[in-house]
Amino acid sequence: MRNPLGIDRKPYFSWKLKSEEKDVFQKTYQILVREKDGTVIMDSGTVKSDENTFIPFLGELRSRTSYEVSIKVEDNKGNGSQVDGLFETAMLEEKDWEAHWAVSSLKYRKRKPGFGLQSGSTLFRKEFMVKKPVKKARLYATCHGAYEVYLNGDRPDERFFAPEHTVYEKYLCYQTYDVTDLIEEGNNVIAMEVADGWYYCPQAKPNMKTDGKHAVLFQLEITSEDGETERVVSGKNVKVSEGAVLSADLYAGEYYNANLEKEGWNKAGYDDTKWLFCEEKSYGYHNLIAQFGEPVKVVKTVEAENVTRSPKGEWIIDFGQNMAGVLRVRTDLPKGSTMSLEHCEVLDKEGNFFNNIMGAGGVGKGCDQKDVYISNGKEGFFEPRFTYHGFRYVRVMGLEEVRKEDFTALVLSSEKENNGSFDTSDELINRLYQNIRWSQTSNMLSIPTDCPQREKAGWTGDMLVYAKTAMLNEDCTAFFSRWLENMSCDQDKYGKIPMVVPNNGNYPLTGIFINLTSGEKGVATSSGWGDAAIAVPYSMYEVTGNKEILKQQYLTMKKWADYIIKTAASKKPKKTQLPAEIENYLWDTGYHYGEWLIPSQNKNGLDLKNLKNIMATSSCYTAPIFGYYSVSTFAKIASLLGKMDDQRKYAQIADRMKNAIQKGIMNEDGSMPSELMGAYVLSIYFDLVPEKYKESFKKHLMKIYEANGRCMDTGFLGTPYLLDAMSLIHEDEAALELLWQKKVPSWLSEVLQGATTIWENCFGYDQDGNPGSLSFNHYAFGCVLDWVYRNLSGIRPMEAGYKQVEIRPLLTDRLSFCHSSYESMQGTIDVKWENKDKHYVLKATIPCNTKACIVLPDGTKHNVGSGSYEYHCSI
Ligand code: BGC
Repeated sequence: MRNPLGIDRKPYFSWKLKSEEKDVFQKTYQILVREKDGTVIMDSGTVKSDENTFIPFLGELRSRTSYEVSIKVEDNKGNGSQVDGLFETAMLEEKDWEAHWAVSSLKYRKRKPGFGLQSGSTLFRKEFMVKKPVKKARLYATCHGAYEVYLNGDRPDERFFAPEHTVYEKYLCYQTYDVTDLIEEGNNVIAMEVADGWYYCPQAKPNMKTDGKHAVLFQLEITSEDGETERVVSGKNVKVSEGAVLSADLYAGEYYNANLEKEGWNKAGYDDTKWLFCEEKSYGYHNLIAQFGEPVKVVKTVEAENVTRSPKGEWIIDFGQNMAGVLRVRTDLPKGSTMSLEHCEVLDKEGNFFNNIMGAGGVGKGCDQKDVYISNGKEGFFEPRFTYHGFRYVRVMGLEEVRKEDFTALVLSSEKENNGSFDTSDELINRLYQNIRWSQTSNMLSIPTDCPQREKAGWTGDMLVYAKTAMLNEDCTAFFSRWLENMSCDQDKYGKIPMVVPNNGNYPLTGIFINLTSGEKGVATSSGWGDAAIAVPYSMYEVTGNKEILKQQYLTMKKWADYIIKTAASKKPKKTQLPAEIENYLWDTGYHYGEWLIPSQNKNGLDLKNLKNIMATSSCYTAPIFGYYSVSTFAKIASLLGKMDDQRKYAQIADRMKNAIQKGIMNEDGSMPSELMGAYVLSIYFDLVPEKYKESFKKHLMKIYEANGRCMDTGFLGTPYLLDAMSLIHEDEAALELLWQKKVPSWLSEVLQGATTIWENCFGYDQDGNPGSLSFNHYAFGCVLDWVYRNLSGIRPMEAGYKQVEIRPLLTDRLSFCHSSYESMQGTIDVKWENKDKHYVLKATIPCNTKACIVLPDGTKHNVGSGSYEYHCSI
């Protein structure tokens, strides 16, 4: 985060060097942290080091204090430089809160899934006097629900869905706002509008009993020019009334009656004598955490592409792009008339509105994706604020005529810095890249979600497969850190990590059902899903060199590794014939999704009837292999953090697990228990194949590849490693062919069918062109981009954090150029290569503090430091 306001933890610092000179490395650094009055809080002294990322703050912090940070560096060329920044703390201790929870005294109905069945919004307001000129003002605020806050009618920022989606019972974020410019001498008002948000949403509500009431907590601290601080806090003198939102839900949509708007309610001087006073309740402060990571905002807008009448005669707007967000609609409807907006991702074969929500009565229950507006006769804009949808198309009802220019789509996502760019001579590959980026934007909304139109849930396995790609596209450090902290909150006493984080809404109940069938206790987990506890922090480390996240998650990771080890040792499949020294090291019991969505097993969408059998065909290898992956990776992490006892212990167990896979899972003829592509891909990628089976594994994989018409046939868990496994068996050409495959199932087949995002599975449409019921905006299969960046752009990390890279694009006639960049923790790595008439040109820019080995197709190698380089060769 850049210059964060309102943190409640010790920060760590990262900076980048820029220079016009070549071969620049940092030689020394000094970090100075001062309070405003100049008191030095941390002085690292001059440190001889080239480290410039994730350097921990050492010292003590005080609550609600601003700190100035100066970082001085010297490089190996004798140049010096300094950069200044700041951060500000929020509440470091519970006792810093003087505010009390102000609980609405309005009546709330029991919420149900489905449009219009949730509660309406609640308006909270409190007036206060300011007698002296204001120097600085900070507002700390949160709620039970989702809120928008106003000071004297203005919002301090444009965020959506504060206080974010978290494990509320243990982790409720509060937000810090700089409101200095919004406060005036005289009468002021702080006003909050609260709707249900995730907190009271039937599909996402926390796994605890709540009283069903909207409530707010705020503490406004006003420092006047003379240095004195006054506090305005929430409590029983906050007043409440109903808002114009009749019902709002993150899945079902928002129902808004403009006739109920209370004009001026969020400005000072409004007559609130008829409003009710709040009740004061002590929910405690134990779960309050200062928001870490950027808020959800409108990150892009998309204009309507065209408006048509469907064959059924309905108005359909096409935005030309699948996305997550809401509409902004200009309205001038007569008073009392109603406009409804229904959102969907695809149209049916005839071009009619189609709701592709799997199992409308089950998983997709209540996902109406509908917003309704009742006009007050005034001209203006309708923009839902307490819901969002996954859509490309909108069916509009209630308008005589639909004018394209009145509709704009607001794309919502958690704000993050862009890290990547990619462009080639092949438009299909470029579109694939764009589709991956769009699915990422659509699904990094407060938490990493599986899809924006159906579950909006933090499925852990999806992120296990996609974490590296996510980090290469955007700076996700803070965003993932927060989600991982929530994962720790949701870990149970057995060390199990749930399949969904936050584990809320209906998922705990599903978990109980799963446990009943599998005889497990605690939260329901699965290999490949729970393993995200180790894979996601480790991917973050690999991409950015962040060891702080490994420290933060260490205990969670350890408990997860222990759970696997204990389960492997204590639980055995009924019919096992394996000797104890093998069986005790195989994770081969419990509930597992297997690879999930292996194309050849899911041609007609999810086969719910046969799901159990299908899952078993791949979980027989995914569980032992991912168990091994987690334990062996944990051993590496222990070593990175200098915890050598743990390193030895877990590395030894991992070795035994590897041996058990080789002897207990692999057949003696050098094959796997299931003739599935992923079985071979995972074994090859995780280096599990004994020398004597290597040839055989290669043969099996290539045979399966041919048998599948040279199309991919891996599910979620096999796909991230598919193309790498091909490269590892010296079949780069097959890897390229898979990427360029145009038949279904393949990445480009989706592009050719007009996809604008990545689909949940490659069979989006059946052979007759009817759309299926799975999601069309699921980032998981987009994980191929990690391979693309390394192999087509050629930017290959040789060390965590890309401080050492190899630039070695795969040569292919399929492209005449490729231009890509990655914003590493050190700066921009930019690679452009061209391949025309047997003449090859490669231009590379390497950032400071980075070593690169540039390898040309003729085999020549150039070891360079920072700077821009150009090489030519003939091929
Ligand atoms: C979700 C997936 C998830 C899966 C688990 C689906 O409903 O959308 O992405 O990982 O369930 O099997």
